[in-house]
Amino acid sequence: MPDTISPAEEKQTIFSGVKPSGDLTLGSYLGALRNWVDLSEQYDCLYCIVDLHAITVRQPPAEIRSRCLSQLAQYIACGLDPVKNTLFIQSHVPAHAELSWVLSCYTMYGELSRMTQFKDKATKNAENINAGLFTYPTLMAADILLYQTNLVPVGEDQKQHVELTRDIANRFNGIYGDVFTMPEPFIPEVGARIMSLTEPRQKMSKSDTDTGCVYLLDRPEDILRAFKRAVTDSDSAVRFDLQEKPGVSNLMGIYAAATGKSYADIEAEFAGQGYGAFKSTVGEAVVELLRPIREEAERLLKDKAYLTQIYTEGANRATFLANKTLRKVYKKIGFVAK
Ligand code: TRP
Repeated sequence: MPDTISPAEEKQTIFSGVKPSGDLTLGSYLGALRNWVDLSEQYDCLYCIVDLHAITVRQPPAEIRSRCLSQLAQYIACGLDPVKNTLFIQSHVPAHAELSWVLSCYTMYGELSRMTQFKDKATKNAENINAGLFTYPTLMAADILLYQTNLVPVGEDQKQHVELTRDIANRFNGIYGDVFTMPEPFIPEVGARIMSLTEPRQKMSKSDTDTGCVYLLDRPEDILRAFKRAVTDSDSAVRFDLQEKPGVSNLMGIYAAATGKSYADIEAEFAGQGYGAFKSTVGEAVVELLRPIREEAERLLKDKAYLTQIYTEGANRATFLANKTLRKVYKKIGFVAK
């Protein structure tokens, strides 16, 4: 292992975060976590459990606490090596909240008003449209910019937030010189969009309350039941067609992601067999895909001392990097040095 890296060989930085506001799903794994594992050799990766972001919507205290730990255990169980990757909890690194305030003074009211996630959430939580919901994107910009991030792996729905982050960085750099690296969204192609099993035109979302969601820690019998109930169509052919057959196509996408088979192979495998056999086979493939992850996560969750050590080391590494940027920002703005 090289112990000194010259600037020319410096790896690019990747940052991403997931809110502990719901349990991780099969969609989180195939669309995000699994891809993160492959990035750790080539990049310096930071993966954050963004608890500060989670509280824009009310969270029961006991749940947010246990979800943070469980999410960390699941990150590791999915194969993210805590030595090669910096895994940490956002509220453990105060620089996130500090830079967020600064950036909010370089973000326009109009820009925040145009964010589609804000408009969506404001409609869904009409009784609690708090200021945090509105300034959420400045905290996300702080997350990204603190680490001089080059690439931000996110789903399509977060692209607008990364664009805004770039606008904020540009504005700040325009006034004070090159303080922030310009980040880019990094949207994976394979497995990017796993849809709900019951409403296949909607993303499988961890905040869904319906039964169309499969969670990483679900028991095999629950997974099999969810796949048996998956929505298909009145035809009986296993054929990929997103427009006409969204349910069947989603199941094919999941099966392809779980087994590495091509759509042509899958169509041949189930030719003339009807949907019953197809749905059970996909369910079983997912059970086997998730079994080692659940078992490892359950083992890790019993080892609180180990998890504490991982998030403490992660927060130390992150704090060191974040404070470097924050000091530079404070100096450029004209704050008196401590
Ligand atoms: N807003 C992201 C989501 O809802 C989560 C997030 C917070 C994030 N900070 C981030 C993602 C920084 C990437 C980078 O999914």
